[in-house]
Amino acid sequence: MPSSIHLSRRRFLRQTGLGMFALAGVPAWVRAMTMAGGPKLSPNKASPAFAPDVEIELAARQSSVSILPGPPTRVLQYAARLVKGPEGTLTNLPGSYLGPLIRLQKGQKVRIHFRNELAEPTIAHWHGMHVPALMDGHPMYAMDPGETFVYEFEVLNRASLNIYHPHPHELTGRQVYYGLAGGILVNDDEEAALGLPVGEYEIPIVLQDRRFDADNQLVYVRHMHEKMMGFHGDRILVNGRPDFTLEVASRAYRLRIMNGSNARIYKLGWDDGTPLTVLGTDGGLLETPEVKPYVMLAPGERLDVWADFSGRAVGSQLVMRSLPFSGALPVMARRMMGEMMHSALPPGSDYPLFTVRVSRGVSESPSLPRRLAKISRYTLADTANPDKPVPLEISEGPMSMLINRRPYAHDDLQPFERIPLGSVQLLEIFHGHGGSGHGDGGEGMAHGGGPGMGMHGGMGMGMMGHRGGMGMMGGHGGGMGMMMSMAHPIHLHGQSFQIVSRTVSNATMDDYASVRDGFVDSGWKDTVLAMPGERIRLIKPFQDFKGLFMYHCHNLEHEDMGMMREFSIE
Ligand code: C2O
Ligand code: CU
Ligand code: CU
Repeated sequence: MPSSIHLSRRRFLRQTGLGMFALAGVPAWVRAMTMAGGPKLSPNKASPAFAPDVEIELAARQSSVSILPGPPTRVLQYAARLVKGPEGTLTNLPGSYLGPLIRLQKGQKVRIHFRNELAEPTIAHWHGMHVPALMDGHPMYAMDPGETFVYEFEVLNRASLNIYHPHPHELTGRQVYYGLAGGILVNDDEEAALGLPVGEYEIPIVLQDRRFDADNQLVYVRHMHEKMMGFHGDRILVNGRPDFTLEVASRAYRLRIMNGSNARIYKLGWDDGTPLTVLGTDGGLLETPEVKPYVMLAPGERLDVWADFSGRAVGSQLVMRSLPFSGALPVMARRMMGEMMHSALPPGSDYPLFTVRVSRGVSESPSLPRRLAKISRYTLADTANPDKPVPLEISEGPMSMLINRRPYAHDDLQPFERIPLGSVQLLEIFHGHGGSGHGDGGEGMAHGGGPGMGMHGGMGMGMMGHRGGMGMMGGHGGGMGMMMSMAHPIHLHGQSFQIVSRTVSNATMDDYASVRDGFVDSGWKDTVLAMPGERIRLIKPFQDFKGLFMYHCHNLEHEDMGMMREFSIE
């Protein structure tokens, strides 16, 4: 890894009191990581019976890119080569650390040889793709440096924008932050028949925030609260570039937007008040376009937007902004963020994301289809458990972020985490009341305070034990709970789901009013933003594949802290 990254990891380990691992050198913490992620399994090999339509060699490696004026920035990067498949399967984003855009067609059989050229474990996950458990990039498959994992899957997804990114336990946030991420654009016939803008009129927009030091090198987590709140940069990059400007013709475009940030939540809106015309979400097209004053986009979520610049004068500009909102971060933290992160870009403030400049006048433009796609909608009657939703309980403590009351541990399944293959389940995301009923005695290493949080794997896990929650979850009542309460983008691997309802209680209504019109809940989703006080019901099918599938917070610092669990489909 680039030496600065190595150094910052060492620094981080020292600050978190786990310096001994760093001092013992890489192999020790590699071992620790492997233990935390589960047993060390050997990487999958190509199977002779699988006849791929598309074959790709993908590597994760160290690289450097010029991002800001001055010295280049050391990054981690996915690089790919097409071995077999249609021309146009891979598109590099110019001047970007992001991996190439991978275009796939529903029904294609895909083989990806993924080689770890980093100096630390990694594994790739295809966020949003419905693939077998072995192909899903579960942390237990994290590979040592130099190893190759062969993925083979058929594209079962409908047309949609998905993400590939690392998933090694406790390293995901850092690896994504340093550059490992890319888009997967799936097309299908239903979408093609609509005649939506394609080619140069269909633009991927990956939104990320980063922080640079005086030498243009990336800066990552240095303080405990940057893990607790998730890491926020002070500079917006679009497709890996600062001050992003899109030169367009005066016609309709399709913007394929992805929130690739570790923790930052955007409230997307055009600066002149033009509403957003939404075509689709995480899992593809909606039934009909939806017009929204603004849209909330949390880490891991995607948005398909119809942007019509026809009738706009050549030379005119439009800016996509993140509009002001509140309530996503704990009251206490809002102050800390300002003071301690030296942030020029406080989360929830009003700031520009990218500029669109109309540089060419044209007279033809496609028109917006009235109907987009067919979505068969689940009802409670389709679910195996209409009266007993599978819980997804969020709880926050001063030193922990948990989902279903336990930090991540491999194969530590609770009864409700075992799901019958082929069933359709009702699930419910809600905020636990930190304390009551929690922590049957886990004494919690985090009690000591200090910056020891966030490293549950390795050593932390050993100290806490796998069971019993964490002691410090007890003892603070509702007041503290509210003060700590924050928004979490909850992501479920495997098939997409449908959102049935959102109800809110116990939240500051002013806060909620600043976000409530920005949710697009009518399509297929794989990540949903749960605001403080919200209770979200969703229906998800668990079809086709048995095995372990992760669910977790897509605030990547939270994920790395252990706000992750797994379902076993059996
Ligand atoms: Cu995009 Cu399990 O993550
Ligand atoms: Cu995923
Ligand atoms: Cu979270």
